[in-house]
Amino acid sequence: MYAATRTTQFRESQIRDMTRLAMAHNAINLSQGFPDFDPPQAIVDAAVDAIRGRDNQYTVTWGYPALRNALAKRYTTALGWDVDPNVHVTVVCGVTEGITAAMLAFLNPGDEIIILEPAHENFRPAAVLAGAVPVAVPLEAPNYRLDPQRLAAAVTPRTRALLFNTPHNPTGRVFDDEEIAAVIDVVTQNDLILITDEIYDRILYDGRVHVSPGRLDPLRERTVTVGGLSKSFAITGWRLGYVVAPAQLSAAIRPIHDYMTICAPTPLQAAAAVAMELPESYYDQVQTEYAQRRDVMMGVLEEAGFVASPPEGAYYVLADYTNIYAPQASWDCERFARWLTTDVGVAAVGGTNFYSLPGYGEGIVRFAFPKRLATLQAAGERLKQISGK
Ligand SMILES: Cc1ncc(COP(=O)(O)O)c(C=O)c1O
Repeated sequence: MYAATRTTQFRESQIRDMTRLAMAHNAINLSQGFPDFDPPQAIVDAAVDAIRGRDNQYTVTWGYPALRNALAKRYTTALGWDVDPNVHVTVVCGVTEGITAAMLAFLNPGDEIIILEPAHENFRPAAVLAGAVPVAVPLEAPNYRLDPQRLAAAVTPRTRALLFNTPHNPTGRVFDDEEIAAVIDVVTQNDLILITDEIYDRILYDGRVHVSPGRLDPLRERTVTVGGLSKSFAITGWRLGYVVAPAQLSAAIRPIHDYMTICAPTPLQAAAAVAMELPESYYDQVQTEYAQRRDVMMGVLEEAGFVASPPEGAYYVLADYTNIYAPQASWDCERFARWLTTDVGVAAVGGTNFYSLPGYGEGIVRFAFPKRLATLQAAGERLKQISGK
């Protein structure tokens, strides 16, 4: 059957595939990044109230007014400029839509966008949907630091934008000042637009703080800040994200969002406005609980013989499995991840899934740990058995 060429330029998500495999084999699913615990009760109640009340129709395309107001307030502080809910904020259906809308808004067919790899798997397809060319810059294991020279070398006359995700999935990196300075240089020297993905801005370890790149003077006028509620509030299924951008950039994104989805779900936006009112202690609690999960996960991996560095932010860990048993030495990481799922009972994702660049990501799997401690411990019991297999 006929299908447009763009559908052949990316393959089906391996992560969602692993989730289906995990379900079929009753495996503990540490492949896809979603929590197995509930969101705060107050926001669940607020969503139910909104549905029982009168918030069941389309809302304003740019976002439910109370949510946009709350986001404007938060981002006036985070970005250090006067964010106007009527001009600069657009609520979208998840960061996924925000990134796609931004690419459609700023990339012409044939334009290039730089994406650091390993990368969240939705970035490349979003560029392809815009007819653009994703250009990968590798972050090298085991430290996954951004190399300024490699970044600068990726720029061509067709480069129009850089996508920058921090805290980073899947490496767990929180990019430091030196790396951000490299981003500033490449973006300002080449007149690029910076599209950020800050979905993990509230999941940080060891006292790290998140600084939105759009706050930094040289980046202010050229940064599209994309964030979301999926992770901070354990509501990945609600599909809520937002884009905050200076007026001209915002004006380009808004009609794209309008014609893609009209608006994000109204009653869930109403509940999200309630979520935004949660006190700072809520986020402290989130961080404390994630620190516990991370520590349990690291212990589990060490005990099973994986080699991994603790993430600095987000909720993933890339683990080298080359020292531990695999039934076939010739297996690539995808095959190993499938075996982990079907035979060991713990689903993970092969490292190559996060690179388009050949030769990267082998010998590594990614575990996602937004899970109850009991789930992680149960995964640990299963992973411990590997050496006996
Ligand atoms: C870096 C990154 N960006 C975006 C997303 C998806 O975000 P959303 O649920 O808001 O579409 C994820 C989900 O795992 C992610 O890891």
